[in-house]
Amino acid sequence: MTNTKFSIVKKTKIGKNARIYDQVNLYGCKIGKNTKIDSFVYIEEGVSIGDDCKIRPFVFIPTGVVIEDNVFIAPNVTFTNDKRPRAQGEWTRLNTRVKSFASIGAGSTINPGVQIGENALIGSGSVVTRDIPDNAVAVGVPARVVGSRPPPSHPRHSESQGRRTRR
Ligand SMILES: CC(C)(COP(=O)(O)OP(=O)(O)OC[C@H]1O[C@@H](n2cnc3c(N)ncnc32)[C@H](O)[C@@H]1OP(=O)(O)O)[C@@H](O)C(=O)NCCC(=O)NCCS
Repeated sequence: MTNTKFSIVKKTKIGKNARIYDQVNLYGCKIGKNTKIDSFVYIEEGVSIGDDCKIRPFVFIPTGVVIEDNVFIAPNVTFTNDKRPRAQGEWTRLNTRVKSFASIGAGSTINPGVQIGENALIGSGSVVTRDIPDNAVAVGVPARVVGSRPPPSHPRHSESQGRRTRR
């Protein structure tokens, strides 16, 4: 961990070589190894972030979000977990998963309960309201698939593909 003098980091499991920058708020979550968490990131209880991820500044990740390995989250991305929020009373949490090697562009909002596919790319400023398939490029409000991108040339990617096809 770097100097986190102005951070709140409590009950958090932090993997080897993870870099946590100052002025973050991490509570009851799990950060994988080699993952970078930039300043002004807020991560709630129960969130799991995989290995080798980059979480850029001003990202909000509430309870119910799982981020797999090698995921890039650009600045100002907001995840959500309550479709019909109210200040008081009961609420239903919807869970969100971002699969490995996906990238989410700057300023995007991820509505509750969606899955973003492996190696998918979400354009900047998008609002993701539905599941996004593996390898898809999706942009806009609401985000629609406009193309695809090739798999990354990364040894961990072929490993994960291999694991995926073995049942
Ligand atoms: C989605 C993205 C990958 C597309 O890149 P590209 O394939 O090079 O596409 P282009 O820039 O040639 O644009 C193609 C079309 O898509 C539109 N477009 C591009 N990005 C868009 C976006 N984020 N939202 C909506 N439309 C977008 C362009 O306006 C253009 O439309 P047109 O053909 O009607 O003029 C890219 O624009 C993007 O948003 N990348 C994420 C950037 C980011 O947040 N990086 C974070 C690190 S700081």
